[in-house]
Amino acid sequence: MSHHSDDSCNDSPNEHFHDVLERSSHTPLNRRNLIRGGIGLAALSSIPFLSACGGGGDDAATPGPGTPAETALGFDAIDKNLLDSVTLPAGYTYTVLHATGDRLVSSIPAYSNLGTETDEWTMRVGDHHDGMDIFYIDALGRYTNTDTGRAVLVVNHESSADSHFFHPTGQTSGGVTGKKFSQFGGWDLGVRPELEVLKEINHHGVSVAEVGKNGSGQWVYKLDSLYNRRVTGQSPMRIAGPAAHLADIRAFMVTKFDTTGATSRGTINNCGHGKTPWGTYLACEENWAAYFNMPQGSAPVDAKTSTSRQRYGVARTPIAGGATSAGSQGWFATATAATDDRFGRWDISAPGAGAAQDFRNEPNTFGFNVEIDPLTSGTPAKRVAMGRFAHEAAVCSIPVVGQPLAFYMGCDSQNEYIYKFVSTAVWSASDVGGGLAAGDKYLDEGKLYVAKFNVNGSGEWLELNIANPLISGYATYVFANQADVLVNARHAADALGATKMDRPEWGAVNPKNGEVYFTMTNNASRNVANADAANPRAYADSDGRARTGNPHGHIIRFKELAGASNALSFNWDIFLFGAEEDSGADINLSGLNAKNDFASPDGLWFSQATGICWIQTDDGAYTDVTNCMLLAAIPGTVGDGGAIAVNNNLGGSTGTQNTFLGAALGETRLRRFLVGTPGCEITGITESADGRTLFVNVQHPGESTPAYGAGPFTFQSQWPGNQGYGPTGRPRSATIVITRTDGGLIGL
Ligand code: FEO
Ligand code: CA
Ligand code: CA
Repeated sequence: MSHHSDDSCNDSPNEHFHDVLERSSHTPLNRRNLIRGGIGLAALSSIPFLSACGGGGDDAATPGPGTPAETALGFDAIDKNLLDSVTLPAGYTYTVLHATGDRLVSSIPAYSNLGTETDEWTMRVGDHHDGMDIFYIDALGRYTNTDTGRAVLVVNHESSADSHFFHPTGQTSGGVTGKKFSQFGGWDLGVRPELEVLKEINHHGVSVAEVGKNGSGQWVYKLDSLYNRRVTGQSPMRIAGPAAHLADIRAFMVTKFDTTGATSRGTINNCGHGKTPWGTYLACEENWAAYFNMPQGSAPVDAKTSTSRQRYGVARTPIAGGATSAGSQGWFATATAATDDRFGRWDISAPGAGAAQDFRNEPNTFGFNVEIDPLTSGTPAKRVAMGRFAHEAAVCSIPVVGQPLAFYMGCDSQNEYIYKFVSTAVWSASDVGGGLAAGDKYLDEGKLYVAKFNVNGSGEWLELNIANPLISGYATYVFANQADVLVNARHAADALGATKMDRPEWGAVNPKNGEVYFTMTNNASRNVANADAANPRAYADSDGRARTGNPHGHIIRFKELAGASNALSFNWDIFLFGAEEDSGADINLSGLNAKNDFASPDGLWFSQATGICWIQTDDGAYTDVTNCMLLAAIPGTVGDGGAIAVNNNLGGSTGTQNTFLGAALGETRLRRFLVGTPGCEITGITESADGRTLFVNVQHPGESTPAYGAGPFTFQSQWPGNQGYGPTGRPRSATIVITRTDGGLIGL
């Protein structure tokens, strides 16, 4: 969507699999001859299959032909629509849990929704609700993974594309109001007011709010709970990593703030998330690169830093004419920035004698998974061993006692990669509740891999290790050491020849069999020549919102060899292709219809209680017809379909791409469950342990509202105020709570 900096920064000459295919004899694997659509549907059942979760074994939970392994969806699909409300199937209802600006403590005023707050937003719910998870609290105030009726809900607050909503009349710069950040490019910034900037920095990050049911049985958050907490763009962070390389890692993090590089400040642009088996939260830093600026008149950075920044989309040279880097929002441009580094740190030029005298290294302190213990005030840890890139989400393999843990991670930009971190430590259930100390055990020591998808339906995990001559001898970027490999993981993945994907968004692990799913949301730079088996479509969507490349996206899935978290190879197929119902047959390859068609899959999550695979969209290709949505799917298994040939046609070029597609789901196993508001994306989803409450985030409703002052002024959306939640007028991101009116399991 428009708030993404998803431009391709990947110019590496990695071989595209189209080229591999040209010289290979395409031999579908034998496993492709397995059941095709042979998985029967069980009768409607309220019994979830969680008990079938056998701990990641390869075959133990894989149904044989004809085995009625799946349950059926139990709701009537809703229609696409453009209403300014959240629509749900008959028999379902929702309430709003909290929305942008809601106070966490009663010592500050309730949110005005007029931009008149005078506090710095450090104890209000942030903006742009995104990834989230729920953590139950036991009688002693510790984490437990069983339902105690008392929990905290932890929510990422991604971006500030809508900062103009929480100032009186938009963002102010140089005394001029009415702008929104996307218009700063080319605009003389002048001076920005400190309070506006602090509100903008602090509405980023993560919120922790205690939640529970009130006397009416309705889920609410608890004002003034001692668990309520904000982690913001300014909160202290610990730089953590493998012991053998920690000193080298911290050398990359040296700034005027901490000349040892042991700590940094803040987390921003937290998109997807992860929940660890020991009960902590991973906030993933996605489009952090855009927030920094090289002011006019500053000197270009050195050649190596420039090569590093180029690969991450960070400003390298000053922009002429007084404008800022796109997206920087001018946080560096307050009157006090020269003496107050809360603002000065967003200026990444190098005026000092060395890195300890300025903030040239500030961008090196972002791009990580940030581990937060939701039940303590411990300093969050940036887990450098998991690599630095545009982290979308981090999803854990099914934990098996005595086996390593794997975390699967996407890097969300065009033509970026899928990564896997495998812990050195093997899982011990006694670490549940171990907090950040357990994180030190599992997330600092391990191996980082990147995925390569082969044309024959197999795949490989390639380790990002300086010992590999492909990395140590890489000419484009010369790595100093293994710390450099982790901090510049995108360059290392280029060197290894990883597969360039169609924007990897969320991943999810099927709790039934450990198979891993990833959304590829879309890719405007995919074309006939660079299409490959894992990213096979290149076409023009000329209907309504016209897009080219792979505009509707797809969902890929893979099964680790022998189901092992530390496997070095896997088998894959494509679970679903997004499409519009009237797209041509070579585009609508999954046979979607009016009840289940979608575009740009983004959020992805499996219910532990029901096994349903939930798919959320963040779309720009189909929003002439429908707002973004949430769909429910009952998946099969990798290899339940077969080999197909995709006929591509784009820009006068045609070509055929061979790939593998899972068994068609049909309307029985794929249905639209929710449609959001104009301008929003649907993102972030979790559930109560009993599967009878679903928490879903509606992010940036009304995102396409024009700048103030362009009157007559109207908001694209007025949700949730128009549904009776909070002050009316401006749109607000929010967490909603979905239940069935009969109290049943969600989706079945
Ligand atoms: Fe923040 Fe890639 O969505
Ligand atoms: Ca379209
Ligand atoms: Ca996302």
